[in-house]
Amino acid sequence: MKVLVTGGLGFIGSHTVVELQNKGFEVVIIDDCSNSDESVLDGIEAITGKKPAYEKLDLKEKHKVEDFFQRYQDVTGVIHFAASKAVGESVEKPLLYYENNIGTLVYILKELCKKNKASFIFSSSCTVYGQADEMPITEDAPVKVAESPYGNTKQMGEEIIADTCKVTPDLNAIALRYFNPMGAHPSGEIGELPKGVPQNLVPFITQTGIGLREELSVFGDDYPTPDGTCIRDYIYVVDLAKAHVVALERLLNGNNESNYEVFNVGTGTGSSVLEAIQSFEKVSGRKLNYKIVDRRAGDITTAYADTTKANKVLGWKAEYTLEQAMNYAWIWEQKIRD
Ligand code: WQD
Repeated sequence: MKVLVTGGLGFIGSHTVVELQNKGFEVVIIDDCSNSDESVLDGIEAITGKKPAYEKLDLKEKHKVEDFFQRYQDVTGVIHFAASKAVGESVEKPLLYYENNIGTLVYILKELCKKNKASFIFSSSCTVYGQADEMPITEDAPVKVAESPYGNTKQMGEEIIADTCKVTPDLNAIALRYFNPMGAHPSGEIGELPKGVPQNLVPFITQTGIGLREELSVFGDDYPTPDGTCIRDYIYVVDLAKAHVVALERLLNGNNESNYEVFNVGTGTGSSVLEAIQSFEKVSGRKLNYKIVDRRAGDITTAYADTTKANKVLGWKAEYTLEQAMNYAWIWEQKIRD
């Protein structure tokens, strides 16, 4: 069968395309290249020897989505990454986020509902939990009022899928709630390509390490944590990509217990900002230039996953550590700056 990967030229999307191809799936990518580059196709081909089919298409254009599914009747599985994902930007431009993240989801679901059987994997986020009351965070933790329009689009997206699955028994869906994706493929052929100044910690660390950024600002060291900096669950992007293939196969093999399931995808280990910096310094052999500054608005103190459900029900477990993932992030940074 052919699998549509929307946002397949993006960071997590491209790594997932590689893992799908490694498992023998035929892939077609839709990407509008608003936050990615067509050259990623060459990176994927360099790894797997197969260049995926690709259509540059804006999923906000409903008729183009309808036309795509007319032309690709054999696409009955979709992994949906395409979305805007900058928390800060979503606060300044909420309608851009609601149109791009919700509108496109609705158009794709409408097409899948026309099929007599369809599988759908949704890129969700631990952001839906806000600051959870208990650690580690289980899938039963309450979804809290979103701290940003970005986080709200993930919460709304899950609700839209759940509501649709309730009345569409032939639509089988899984939402994967990512924790903090990081790293790059071991081949050095694909990795994270943030446009402009990175919002996320790890690319800012590696860009500072290579001298592209003067110094890293650590947003606060007065949090109620052992070293005062925020704690996150940093998951290696290849581990995360593999979780998508396992989830899709679960649906294709009919192993799902209901037609809408949710899984946390993390390592189950929390690491502080300072620990992330220390892991960089260890793998690079370089001292990182950073300074402690004020807290960043909207940041939560601690988030790391309870991975019991993913391990026992989904049958997936993260294999790489923060340090191993940081090593691949550093190798990638050096390669793209050569
Ligand atoms: C991690 C920690 C910062 C940058 C967000 C989204 C989440 C997902 C991942 C899309 C925090 C600190 C960061 C810097 C710093 N996005 N930090 N200096 O905020 O946990 O999650 O990105 O899917 O949905 O919410 O990730 O990497 O921005 O921050 O000190 O220059 O690093 O304060 O504690 P975050 P992050």
